[in-house]
Amino acid sequence: MSLKIALMPGDGIGPEVTDEAVRILTNVAEHAGRSFTFSTHAIGGAAIDTAGRGLPERTLEAALNADAVLLGAVGHPKFDGQKTAERPEAALLALRQALGGFANLRPAVCYPPLARRTAFQPERVKGASVLIVRELLGGLYFGEPRGFEASGNTAFNTLIYSRHEIERVAKVGFERARERRKKVASIDKANVLETSRLWRAVVSDVAKGYPDVELEHVYVDTAAMRLATAPASFDVMLCDNLFGDILSDQAASIAGSLGLLPSATVGGKVDLYEPVHGSAPDIAGKGLANPIGAIASAAMLLRFSARMDKEAGDIDHAIEDALAAGARTRDLAGPGERVLSTREMGQAIEEALNEVRDRKHCYHGV
Ligand code: IPM
Ligand code: MN
Repeated sequence: MSLKIALMPGDGIGPEVTDEAVRILTNVAEHAGRSFTFSTHAIGGAAIDTAGRGLPERTLEAALNADAVLLGAVGHPKFDGQKTAERPEAALLALRQALGGFANLRPAVCYPPLARRTAFQPERVKGASVLIVRELLGGLYFGEPRGFEASGNTAFNTLIYSRHEIERVAKVGFERARERRKKVASIDKANVLETSRLWRAVVSDVAKGYPDVELEHVYVDTAAMRLATAPASFDVMLCDNLFGDILSDQAASIAGSLGLLPSATVGGKVDLYEPVHGSAPDIAGKGLANPIGAIASAAMLLRFSARMDKEAGDIDHAIEDALAAGARTRDLAGPGERVLSTREMGQAIEEALNEVRDRKHCYHGV
């Protein structure tokens, strides 16, 4: 049976990086004897321009009928003056809400070949591997009421969480921790916010069902400092929507570039995969974007939506091998290093993937 993948390249660098993810998925399908069908749909600023709205009905329908959605990025500065609801970002939030995935998984690892390129001293970042589990459908992003008062001089948002919302994402955090180093740091601001006090209480309750997993509660400000000084001390970081948004960009400094980070949103009707980076309009269309975040998101898609663990692992290896061989997009290149285009980086990873597979064949043959 064919795996139906709905592609939503979106804005800015979204289309370029999505093309490279499709290159890798196509390669995997051929070699695994699986069939993937791709369909492409407009979202974000690109959809506002062509269809008059950020999330056209047809796009939403395609997403709901797919086995998985792979998104590029949304957002463009020309919409900066628009009302919140009319911005490209609103389309992504509406899509997330319609698909229903409440747990957004954002892994950040230190790739050894890049350790010297990170903001860290190499020994500090060595072995660092953090998984941010971000609550994606609640909190300040969606709380009502929200808006501007008539004067235009006062604006408000609502931070609201229910036990149910916290419980379901906490379970995902503990489940993932079980597959990793069995540590959960639950991030909150319980010294100030009621929602955080509830968060802490519910997470502690959920923890009772996971006695093999170690739980610590960490204030978000402390967590930011610790992420910058001792990133390897974290395993799973369980965060609300806003804290998770902020800390996941910060966690990108472990890897060395925001362009490297993938994400998967699970728990809803259809799982959604997207790189953590934005649309980067300043470099769009120039072949300067790093496709690794999108390619690693495709690997997560294979793992979670296609149960192709081996193939997903091969892609992760291929990314590391390509980096070890010196493949660098502009965001990763040091002085004097050759800079690859988005497509060349995709090709380098595809070649590395073929080699990973060949190597395995040899081992089996021996
Ligand atoms: C992200 C992005 C989005 C978010 C924006 C584009 C709505 O920053 O996926 O991290 O804030 O969730
Ligand atoms: Mn973000």
